[in-house]
Amino acid sequence: MSAPVLIFDSGVGGLSVARSLALRHPDIAQCYACDNAWLPYGVRDDVTLSERILAVCRAAVAACGAGALVVACNTASTLALDRLRATLPIPVIGTVPAIKPAALASRTRHIGLLATTATVNRPYTQNLIERFASDCRVSRIAADPLVVQAETWLAGGDIDRDRVSRALAPLWQATATSPALDTVVLGCTHFPLLKPVLEALAPVPLGWVDSGDAIARRVADVAAHCTGRRDGRCFTTAAADHLVAGFAEFGFTHPRRLALP
Ligand code: DGL
Repeated sequence: MSAPVLIFDSGVGGLSVARSLALRHPDIAQCYACDNAWLPYGVRDDVTLSERILAVCRAAVAACGAGALVVACNTASTLALDRLRATLPIPVIGTVPAIKPAALASRTRHIGLLATTATVNRPYTQNLIERFASDCRVSRIAADPLVVQAETWLAGGDIDRDRVSRALAPLWQATATSPALDTVVLGCTHFPLLKPVLEALAPVPLGWVDSGDAIARRVADVAAHCTGRRDGRCFTTAAADHLVAGFAEFGFTHPRRLALP
């Protein structure tokens, strides 16, 4: 019996990574877990959040017998990746802002980082910028309200475009500065779910870069033992009846409650 790859996020954002993985490697079995009881992660205190991520990931890996873990959350990865790797006996693949490909793609050398408050401020993120975008201007924009909008969208609700526009006002302003921002890193896995709306609201055409495809390639490298059988089990830490149809569209079954110690 093959062990599935477990995709983990605070909420439904990891589905954007699950989708990239399924497109590139439909033969890799996936299951999903999200800590919706603690959503959103992006505005929580680092110390308690780090402990929580460890506890939930341990329980979820055990519940589905995962053969590899994808931390499909920038906020969790930039905080707890090292601890997860030191604790879990399986390969752990993180999701961090795609600064490097964005810097390579930008022609104006002005890129935007759209992420949660926690991710834009993390030393891990600062390090990525220094390593891969030292010759770029990087506008960091905390866009936590977009997390809620993505959750609403997956539950079948309408996206509040005014709310999204207000949250992105600094991004739109940066497209009119000199040099003009031309490339945006979607540094939160919830945001690719909103990409059609972001593209429609942008005042000028922009390049949008996320980490989904890079993660899919990395998973294939380290999780060859996770192929062969469909899985689709789904675990949550709080009620998720409103998400059943949305999860099903991404290939995941009726969510079950994850037992935490
Ligand atoms: N999807 C998560 C990320 O990539 C964050 C959402 C949250 O704030 O919980 O950072």
